[in-house]
Amino acid sequence: MSSERRIRVLVLGGDGQVGRELMRAVPPAGFSVTGLGRDALDITRPDAIASAIGVAQCGFVVNAAAYTQVDRAESEREQAFAVNRDGAAYIAEACRSRDLPLLHLSTDYVFDGTKAAAYTESDAVRPLGVYGESKEAGERAIRDRLDQHLILRTAWVFSPFRHNFVKTMLRLGREREEIGVVDDQTGCPTAAADIARTILTVAERAVGDGFDRWGTYHFCNAGLTTWHGLARAIFAAAAARGAPTPRLRAIETLDYPTPARRPANSVLDCGRIAAAFGITPRLWRAALDECLDELLGPDGRDKRQ
Ligand SMILES: NC(=O)c1ccc[n+]([C@@H]2O[C@H](COP(=O)([O-])OP(=O)(O)OC[C@H]3O[C@@H](n4cnc5c(N)ncnc54)[C@H](OP(=O)(O)O)[C@@H]3O)[C@@H](O)[C@H]2O)c1
Repeated sequence: MSSERRIRVLVLGGDGQVGRELMRAVPPAGFSVTGLGRDALDITRPDAIASAIGVAQCGFVVNAAAYTQVDRAESEREQAFAVNRDGAAYIAEACRSRDLPLLHLSTDYVFDGTKAAAYTESDAVRPLGVYGESKEAGERAIRDRLDQHLILRTAWVFSPFRHNFVKTMLRLGREREEIGVVDDQTGCPTAAADIARTILTVAERAVGDGFDRWGTYHFCNAGLTTWHGLARAIFAAAAARGAPTPRLRAIETLDYPTPARRPANSVLDCGRIAAAFGITPRLWRAALDECLDELLGPDGRDKRQ
């Protein structure tokens, strides 16, 4: 197929973890992916969004741009809302004016963590911190403005890119002999690569004739653990590759005070996306192994120090 006839997926936030994985993912046949990083497009500028979406001549828009610094958001409320709520609203308006579908990413931190089971899309939201509040406000801004939307909530994202828990653990493993990690918050570690593949699968379906499954979906890797459990898995895999491994100590949230409160349980139920799109996530351990293969060389040295 010639490049002119491909359906272009435009990714806003192309420099983020999910953005970068989207840029290197293999698109479905007949699709191409173009990304704009923050330097090319600031999503707090409505005119710039409208013009970028017009110039791109795309058939599907993905918003992977976000203010994602959970603790800093507590003291930067305005900035978090400017990106996560207002930016989302501007993108939805630009999509509506061009009759374009939008996939927007959101977070498990819209929930308060008091549920004893996995959260479904119909569970009530009650964010505990400013980041979660701003993301929840972004979800509403999109639902209010654009029918053709897909909101994909995900969780505990890791990748070889940028800052994330996996890379922080590998760094601390080189620097310290012992690390205390929180063992009373449970969630679903999720590879940005798997989110990217899911987005493209959903995009392919959504641009098809008669598609009517718009709405909110959960997607995360299968299986659940605590941050301590994830750290254990990271260091077990790192040790197998000869990388330095510190002693790990399980601690409680109370022992590790942070500016933002986080949900004790933010496990997401992914039944709805499985039923609507046939997407069944792989186990987080398999996704983690793949990420560590990329991050750690055969001698166990972090290739991206
Ligand atoms: N990371 C997680 O654990 C996690 C968990 C659940 C849900 N999510 C959601 O998943 C999505 C993707 O997350 P991610 O981990 O890929 O985030 P990320 O790595 O932090 O990437 C976000 C990107 O957005 C950019 N950005 C920030 N403000 C912008 C603006 N005004 N205009 C344009 N770009 C801007 C950032 O650039 P700068 O670096 O220059 O600011 C960064 O490149 C987000 O919606 C996030 O809320 C993430």
